[in-house]
Amino acid sequence: MEKIIIANWKMNPKTLKEAEEIFYSLSEVKLDNVSLILCPPFVYMEDMSRLLQQKNISAVLGAQNCHWEEKGAFTGEISVAMLKNFGVEYIIVGHSERRWKMLETDEMINKKIKAILENGLIPILAVGEKKRESNFKDVIIEQLKKDLVGVDSESVKKIIIAYEPVWAIGTGISDKPKDTIEAVKAVKQYIASSYNLSFDDGRVLYGGSINSKNVIDFVSQAEINGVLVGGASIDKEEFRKIIEVVSKI
Ligand code: PGA
Repeated sequence: MEKIIIANWKMNPKTLKEAEEIFYSLSEVKLDNVSLILCPPFVYMEDMSRLLQQKNISAVLGAQNCHWEEKGAFTGEISVAMLKNFGVEYIIVGHSERRWKMLETDEMINKKIKAILENGLIPILAVGEKKRESNFKDVIIEQLKKDLVGVDSESVKKIIIAYEPVWAIGTGISDKPKDTIEAVKAVKQYIASSYNLSFDDGRVLYGGSINSKNVIDFVSQAEINGVLVGGASIDKEEFRKIIEVVSKI
């Protein structure tokens, strides 16, 4: 079954030259049954979009953020329509670094999701608990409920959800796959029952300290549709290995 790999470069790398090197390293990798979504910083988008058209790399572009308004007086912001012009097809929303470091609220995330869908792009909605406590599944369902207010069932079906426990992001401590499966199942069941969809309509990924050694523990589970990779996605060798492992499933 095809798995999704999302590369979230975050605010990296420092130069366009390095960004191009990471990009070129992917041209040697064979992608079997893998759908690869690259999410570089905005300033590299135009270049990455051009390279994607020239090189034989079967990846698509994603962005790490957007504003919900189409245009106007929003200094420092970028609209979905602008990103679409550069061939962006996916946009990450609700990443914990934006929720907790940039104080983004569920209300803002909800507006972004609606703007992304209205423009015909696909949101990658990240949810996850700050601390692992016995009620962690309730915490993520609560986030989902708020983030998806007013989104219809046809649209919900398109959204990719990334389960990303905050404590696992960038810490080197990944979740235990058995707990991830619990969370992923809870999300899929919630989506299925609330939106009159089937359990398998949900596409739910795991993110948090994924590397070439632990990725197999997650992607080998039928319920988990792929991984969102942060730090390891800008390490050329490590990311190549991750793709190879996932391709062999
Ligand atoms: P990480 O980041 O792989 O560095 O933990 C994951 C993410 O971007 O959510």
